[in-house]
Amino acid sequence: MIEVINIRKSFGDKTILQDVSVNMEPGKTNLIIGASGSGKTVLMKCMVGLIEVDSGKIKYDGQDFTAMDDKEKKPIRQEIGMLFQGSALFDSMTVEQNIMFPLDMFSKEKYKVRMKRVQECLDRVNLKDANKKFPAEISGGMKKRVGIARAIVLNPKYLFVDEPNSGLDPQTSLVIDKLIKDITVEYNITTVVNTHDMNTVMESGDHIIYMHQGLKQWEGSNEDIIFADDQKLNDFIFASEFFQDIKEMRKTEMFRDKGWRTKKDGENSSRT
Ligand SMILES: Nc1ncnc2c1ncn2[C@@H]1O[C@H](COP(=O)(O)OP(=O)(O)O)[C@@H](O)[C@H]1O
Ligand SMILES: [Mg+2]
Repeated sequence: MIEVINIRKSFGDKTILQDVSVNMEPGKTNLIIGASGSGKTVLMKCMVGLIEVDSGKIKYDGQDFTAMDDKEKKPIRQEIGMLFQGSALFDSMTVEQNIMFPLDMFSKEKYKVRMKRVQECLDRVNLKDANKKFPAEISGGMKKRVGIARAIVLNPKYLFVDEPNSGLDPQTSLVIDKLIKDITVEYNITTVVNTHDMNTVMESGDHIIYMHQGLKQWEGSNEDIIFADDQKLNDFIFASEFFQDIKEMRKTEMFRDKGWRTKKDGENSSRT
């Protein structure tokens, strides 16, 4: 489990994170949502140690990551897979070489074994015949897949993805969301995803954390969000009439499903 405990972070006199505490649920897709500038990326960078916190703790399975020096952090860093915005692939390397890179850094296996692992990851993200291509020669969605393959190549226990859908069309976004969700379950990874994509919120996220101006404003499940009465959350999520309609539809569906189940179980049908 990843525990974020009373994290504070400022840049100059600007407070970015104000006393944030949250647990990332193991083996699940934890979504951090919120408006642009609310502190999602800073929070994620604090969690992986790319930004040092001013105060507070980050714990990985009970171990205080924030109190460790670089050498002590190394074993935990090796269990972390990351995909930051823009995919950050090496332009001068082929797809295959990009995915091989972490193995070259950390694995002592022979080339053949490493290449087998690269191929497994490419297959897992459904990238066929792209091995020898350069990033400039593939689509945005394919670049994300390469980024995901690279992030999982070392079999991480934790996966951090910052805005997986930035620059993607809605259909490709859904495919990428599903891929992240499936990989999380399949490999039992603790995944943290930053997003401001409302489709993602509606479709995935076992555990949702809503950030507002550097504060954790709300947290709950993707079902809870339909019934949440937090005004700021509702203003953010259901800003458009379209999403308000979806919310009402979901509510109706849930009540209907509940009623249907109650009757089927032979329970008191007056509850419906
Ligand atoms: N390295 C930095 N130095 C100064 N300010 C920063 C830095 N990184 C982020 N910020 C500021 O922190 C705030 C939160 O940023 P960020 O976490 O990127 O937001 P989000 O990811 O939710 O859009 C923004 O106002 C941003 O300008
Ligand atoms: Mg961001």
